[in-house]
Amino acid sequence: MSDAPIIRVEHLDKTYQTVAGPFPVLKDVNLGVAQGEFIAIMGPSGSGKSTFMNVLGCLDRPTRGVFALDGRTIGGLPKDELARLRNRTIGFVFQGFNLLPRMSLADNVALPLVYAAVAQDERRQRARAMLARVGLGQYAQSLPSQISGGEQQRVAIARALVNQPRLILADEPTGNLDSKTGGEIMMLFEELHREGITIVLVTHDPGVAAHALRLVRFLDGRIVEDQRTERAETA
Ligand SMILES: Nc1ncnc2c1ncn2[C@@H]1O[C@H](COP(=O)(O)OP(=O)(O)OP(=O)(O)O)[C@@H](O)[C@H]1O
Ligand SMILES: [Mg+2]
Repeated sequence: MSDAPIIRVEHLDKTYQTVAGPFPVLKDVNLGVAQGEFIAIMGPSGSGKSTFMNVLGCLDRPTRGVFALDGRTIGGLPKDELARLRNRTIGFVFQGFNLLPRMSLADNVALPLVYAAVAQDERRQRARAMLARVGLGQYAQSLPSQISGGEQQRVAIARALVNQPRLILADEPTGNLDSKTGGEIMMLFEELHREGITIVLVTHDPGVAAHALRLVRFLDGRIVEDQRTERAETA
C-alpha cells in the first residue's frame, strides 16, 4: 500500500451539454480520500452525488479539473489503460443491484473476472469463495429472482469484491432495502472497512451515513460540509 491518497479531486467541474445549453452539475469540487477511509456522501436529490460517483468510478469524465485515482491522473489515460486501472482498483455497488436475471449468482459474481480475462476454473472458484464470504455460498446456482432483495445486494457486493478492489463505490446501496436488511448490508461494509478497503457510499438515510467515519455533504453541485461523524469521534 502506498501513502498516496486513493482519490484526489481538485477544482473539478462537470457540465452537461443539453439542448437548453450547458448545464453545470459539479462546481469546483475538491476532495482527498486516504486509503482505508469510510465516507458517506449525502445531499438533496439533484445535488450531483451520482454524477460525482460516476466520475470517481471512471464512468464519466470531468469537464475541468483534476481527478487522480491511486496516484494516477485520469485525464490523459488511454481508454484501455483506464479500464484496467478501474477494474483492478474499484468495485461498484448500485441501488438496483444490477444482476443479470438469466445468469446464476455464481456467474453474476464471476462477471468482472471475465473482463479481467481470468481462466474459467479460477473464475468459478473465486466467485464461490466470494458468495460464501457474503453468506450465500449455498445459493451459487440460484437465479437472482429466487433470492430476496437484501440477498441480491449481497451478491452485488460479492461481485464488486471479486477483483479484490481497494476502493468500493456504492450509490445508495440500501436505497431499495428495508431498514433491517439495510443494516445488515452496512455491517458488511463495516467489515470490509475493517479489512482495509476504502468505502465511499451515497445515502439519503442519516442512519446509514452514521456507519461511516466521515460525512461529505453536497448542495447544488458543491461540497458544503466535510467532517468526521459521531462514530469517528467516539471510536
Ligand atoms: N446525462 C445527463 N445530462 C444532463 N443532465 C444530467 C445528466 N445526468 C444527470 N443530470 C442532471 O444533473 C443533476 C445532478 O444529477 P445526479 O444524478 O448527480 O443527482 P443526485 O444527487 O445523485 O440525485 P439523487 O439523490 O436523486 O440520486 C440533476 O439535475 C440531473 O438532472
Ligand atoms: Mg443519485
